[in-house]
Amino acid sequence: MRRVVVLALSFSALAGCGSQDDAASSPLPSIAAEAKAAPANHLTPRTNFALHCSGCHLPNGSGFAGRVPDMRGELSAMVRVAEGRRYLIQVPGTANSTLTDAETADLINWLIVEMGPAPVAPFKPYTESEVAALRAEKIEDPAAMRERVLAQLP
Ligand code: HEC
Repeated sequence: MRRVVVLALSFSALAGCGSQDDAASSPLPSIAAEAKAAPANHLTPRTNFALHCSGCHLPNGSGFAGRVPDMRGELSAMVRVAEGRRYLIQVPGTANSTLTDAETADLINWLIVEMGPAPVAPFKPYTESEVAALRAEKIEDPAAMRERVLAQLP
């Protein structure tokens, strides 16, 4: 029950950030149901995204033009390029969250599919140990890394 209250609070804090479209497609009811169904201390990737990421990325991944990139239709291409595969984990929002390496692997594997385009071609899922190794290596300039990755996409 406490978790549901926390979710409700974090969503009311976000209210007003998104456009009307975002409000119409709010995932709040399904997130609350999943949080209730999940065993204690194990939140689903969708819930972790809502709690740790959607304040900047918005629940649908559209971000804020000029500040937070739109990740829809992009991650499934990035994960296929070696530097892109590192980037998705080493970008500060992913690398510096309080989620464990296992939760982060689950979250990014889920996010790649969730952000489409659907259907996403099969990719090699991240493992906990791959995430741990990548997180240990800090990157200097996320924006420059992002540009290099985009330039390598087919
Ligand atoms: C404080 C705002 C903020 C938070 C919170 C945040 N991010 Fe980000 N994220 C960004 C910004 C800004 C970028 C663009 C790269 C950069 O400058 O860091 C980005 C880029 C990304 C990218 C690469 C997308 C692309 O198109 O380049 C991924 C993947 C990502 N974030 C995942 C996450 C995940 C997963 C979380 C939660 C665990 C998260 N982020 C939390 C701001 C944030």
